[in-house]
Amino acid sequence: MTVHLSRRYTFAASHRLHSHQLSDAENRAIYGKCNNPNGHGHNYEVELTVRGEVDPVTGRAVDLFALDRLAEAQILRPFRYRNLNEEIEAFRLVVPTTENMAFEVDRRLRAVWAEVFPDAGPRLEKVRIWETERNICEISEA
Ligand code: NI
Repeated sequence: MTVHLSRRYTFAASHRLHSHQLSDAENRAIYGKCNNPNGHGHNYEVELTVRGEVDPVTGRAVDLFALDRLAEAQILRPFRYRNLNEEIEAFRLVVPTTENMAFEVDRRLRAVWAEVFPDAGPRLEKVRIWETERNICEISEA
């Protein structure tokens, strides 16, 4: 039996929406107060959805301890309490919008997924990230 199981994580971080490919005036026009030079914080929420077969013995589709360790190592520990623009290499030139955050979270998980969950193990089906209650971005497996 195949199921989808989701698990949520939270972390706080700060950012500034500013594109190096645009002028200061264009940045202000596009991003508004999110372009304020000193940045601002968010309590991000990340939801990982995994697709897997339920093991008849354990009754589980995914080892949650392994998933938690993966999320902690790849996302929570690197991002927590960071200035994303200044401290995360991926966002030095890429604007840390919710969309780009979702890409980066997805990329970081997939980079090591097969090491943690080899062979017929659970697959990463979907990444959702909440920047605010009203601003949510989702990436699904291609
Ligand atoms: Ni923001």
